[in-house]
Amino acid sequence: MSQQSLTPEYFDSLYTADADPWKFETSDYEAEKYATTLAALPKSRYRSAFEIGGSIGVLTEMLAERCDSLLSVEVSEMAQQQAISRCQALSNIRFQLMQVPQSYPDEWFDLTVLSEVGYYWCLEDLQKAQRLMLDHLEPGGHLLLVHWTPYDDYYDNPLSGDEVHEAFLALPSSQLKHLGSDRAEKYRLDLFERVGIG
Ligand SMILES: C[S@@+](CC[C@H](N)C(=O)[O-])C[C@H]1O[C@@H](n2cnc3c(N)ncnc32)[C@H](O)[C@@H]1O
Repeated sequence: MSQQSLTPEYFDSLYTADADPWKFETSDYEAEKYATTLAALPKSRYRSAFEIGGSIGVLTEMLAERCDSLLSVEVSEMAQQQAISRCQALSNIRFQLMQVPQSYPDEWFDLTVLSEVGYYWCLEDLQKAQRLMLDHLEPGGHLLLVHWTPYDDYYDNPLSGDEVHEAFLALPSSQLKHLGSDRAEKYRLDLFERVGIG
């Protein structure tokens, strides 16, 4: 098992080999998961949302319909260029190349989405990212996690999807309230609300 977070070069090499390595554009599984992801959002509209690891922008484009403003960050320029092109008609999305948790936007959000990214972090980076996500989420703001759970298929990943979600469930409920979960055959989803500052 790898102990380091996966690097931007790792993801660039995936996108070099295949412009859509996870088949986000065409897979029925992904389409169902995206519909479940959007349906899990308690509010019809968010003021300022943050998407970590937006990839080629398929979920980004759908999320943008629910947000006044959406910031989508990504480590792979190759992936983000596709996202920019896909979403060029949507003026409420900002794109930035950014490696979380080494960098984080200096902004407050009322929604943060971490979909299929957390297991690429080592435990230390996951913990740093958790702190940053909490510190930049408004009280009452939502945090939505969605991750693939069959661990053995993706042996490069330092963590499993379940380990990522359990790490958030272990945070004090005085900081992050668990609003609900959904477990499908191959992924899980957990929704949280920021309680206070601390
Ligand atoms: C499996 S894709 C998920 C895409 C999208 N969130 C979705 O659910 O459809 C993971 C993406 O996260 C990006 N990524 C990986 N580590 C990252 C990090 N530390 N910061 C920002 N993006 C990262 C990868 O380059 C990749 O494009």
